[in-house]
Amino acid sequence: MEMTPMAPKCGVEISGVSLAGCSDSEMQAIKQAIYEHGVAVFRDQDFSPEDHIAFAKRWGGIDINAYFPLDPAFPEIALVKKAPDQQTNIGGAWHTDHSYDQVPAMGSILVARVLPPSGGDTLWAHMGAAYDALSDELKERIEGLEAFHTADHVYKEGGIYAQTDQGSDLRGQDVTTGAVHPVVIRHPQTGRKLLYVNTAFTIRFVGQTREESLPLLMELTQAALREDNQCRLEWKPGTVAIWDNRTTWHNAMNDYHGHAREMHRITLTGEPLAA
Ligand code: SIN
Repeated sequence: MEMTPMAPKCGVEISGVSLAGCSDSEMQAIKQAIYEHGVAVFRDQDFSPEDHIAFAKRWGGIDINAYFPLDPAFPEIALVKKAPDQQTNIGGAWHTDHSYDQVPAMGSILVARVLPPSGGDTLWAHMGAAYDALSDELKERIEGLEAFHTADHVYKEGGIYAQTDQGSDLRGQDVTTGAVHPVVIRHPQTGRKLLYVNTAFTIRFVGQTREESLPLLMELTQAALREDNQCRLEWKPGTVAIWDNRTTWHNAMNDYHGHAREMHRITLTGEPLAA
């Protein structure tokens, strides 16, 4: 197996391994690389839906997304789809998957099934690098803070997606979410400090209103999205990306109007987060 960084602080491309047939020691090395680099990309994979599910179960378990359409033949697989006549994509803003759950999904495995002729890249940003680069003054200000995360404003009836042409494809308008997490968490496996707020689902700090929280949330967002914390993936047929939702934010580019894009996503079960 060979590992090549995608960017100095985020992402690694791993070659010389078949995800569908990897050994236990390769699996361990893949997990460790994802915990550290935040996201790993694998090219030219022969990875059927059955392989996708089997790999996720081998990793540790599957959290089924409450909102995305599910593959009718494989309900463990959520479909991230945009049709040629749709304007809105799924995941087209910086976020981390399922932070609105009190035990958020550890990671996500995304497989390219239908790609536009160009565009539709995905960006990740590394929240360990983001935390490290904060000023000492800002680190002190967020020490001990907790934040409230929810997806209600995104997916509920009348929420952000309901007002778009993705609205009728989504499920879970009756689902209510809410979770409190430390603003700075320790990665459960590496122990690294990570900034754990995100622009999509973190709506306020505990003990503060939304209005009181916004200036600091915006300051943290700006710091998190420094370009040198980021990496970018240009998808090709056979590409699979696996990322750690504690370590990274991601953002799906919506620059391929008039073309279809369909990705298969499985979210991996996580564990409670601690400061
Ligand atoms: C997601 O937010 O999980 C989707 C990412 C993508 O479609 O590139």
